[in-house]
Amino acid sequence: MFSKEIYINRRKSLINSINEGLILIPGNSDVPFNYPANIYTFRQDSSFLYFFGINQPDIIGVIDAESGDEYMFGNDVDIDDIIWMGELPALKDFSQKNGVKHTMPLTKAEEFIEKSLKQGRKIHFLPTYRSESKLLLQKLLGIPANELNNKVSKELIKQVVKLRSVKDSNEIKEIEGSVDVAYLMHTTAMKMAKQGVSEQEIFGTMEGIALSHGGPVSFPIILSVNGQILHNHHHNNILKNGQLLVADAGAESAMNYCSDITRTSPVGGKFSSKQKDIYEAVVAANLEVIKQSKPGIPYKEMHLLSAKIITERLIAVGLMKGSAEEAISAGAHALFYPHGLGHMMGLDVHDMEGLGENYVGYDDLFKRSNQFGLAFLRMAKKLEEGNVITVEPGIYFIPALIDIWKKEKKHIDFINYNKVEEYRDFGGIRIEDDILITKDSCRVLGKPIPKTVKEVEDLMNI
Ligand code: GLY
Ligand code: MN
Ligand code: MN
Repeated sequence: MFSKEIYINRRKSLINSINEGLILIPGNSDVPFNYPANIYTFRQDSSFLYFFGINQPDIIGVIDAESGDEYMFGNDVDIDDIIWMGELPALKDFSQKNGVKHTMPLTKAEEFIEKSLKQGRKIHFLPTYRSESKLLLQKLLGIPANELNNKVSKELIKQVVKLRSVKDSNEIKEIEGSVDVAYLMHTTAMKMAKQGVSEQEIFGTMEGIALSHGGPVSFPIILSVNGQILHNHHHNNILKNGQLLVADAGAESAMNYCSDITRTSPVGGKFSSKQKDIYEAVVAANLEVIKQSKPGIPYKEMHLLSAKIITERLIAVGLMKGSAEEAISAGAHALFYPHGLGHMMGLDVHDMEGLGENYVGYDDLFKRSNQFGLAFLRMAKKLEEGNVITVEPGIYFIPALIDIWKKEKKHIDFINYNKVEEYRDFGGIRIEDDILITKDSCRVLGKPIPKTVKEVEDLMNI
């Protein structure tokens, strides 16, 4: 945990920004996967972690926005727990670490909330994404589980997003540690990417590196020679020379701060000249965005910059034609680049996505586009000092999408479908880094991971 003052100050900021009522932030519970006693590795809710810091199941945090009183409801371990799991700190011990004054048994939460509801007090709560939390809130608030997410406090969501969006130096250190674990995961994968090696072996080795450094992976690893499938979770292939291996993976620190890195490697250690042209387009987009990102710049502008660089390069190799600007405003580039440039990252790999993407990446100035491709941009609003953002442009050849667009003669003024046919089996390329927005620019977090053609080939051929 961070120092007690950090949690006290975070909660104080929340108290100062919410005028009335109670703020209810339940932590997560254990979740079984095939029978009750066989549970998934516990993952605490990130907002609970942010304000209370305690990585234990079944604790409910309550903050009185008017009096400033703070409570934790939870059960201390009993003798049965001690027999099976050993001694654990009592709730009182946790309260020493996060500065919450009042602790009470979990069973008292219902009574406490019921009393507040009877007094007509407003109860602020965040959107829930787990059935266990929905059932808990249903019980506490008397709101049917399937209606809870329509009754969340927008005021609370906005304040939580505002606070969690700006990372302090302690958080940056945690994130940077996770990027350094990702460095090991990715450089190991690059060195393993040889003919005859299985995807599963590289996948397992990468996950093992994350686990051996203390944290789980920050999301299920994407590792595939079919990188054109954006979130491909199958690892059944045996690598062959000439293929491109996309590895999109990150780790969580012991305090649950994430990294999210993608590298694409040529199996066997040498890019073909056809692969190099496309790879260098993605590198150029990634590097130019890193060069230009700073406070005050809308990330949508950076997304469009990456689209422009990619489109110009695709025009240069003959896959697209016409004016890059016109192609982008029509959305033609999205055949090859159908996703957004990046997202915030922190305690969640897609930071705060559970609170609602539009609260995190959009605001009154930036509304989500409904154009294919641009619509998937998670972060559009202006960058702020302290934001941690991913920069992850990509180029993909998705046969099913090519077939549909070609049949519909979609964007034929901008796409050379005959040339595209020559790339049907190309796969995909994505390159992703994690950046911190600084006072007047940005910096890539963590130890630099080989990225240019030369850096990647040199590492693979040591
Ligand atoms: N982990 C998927 C992504 O890069 O957003
Ligand atoms: Mn990623
Ligand atoms: Mn990402």
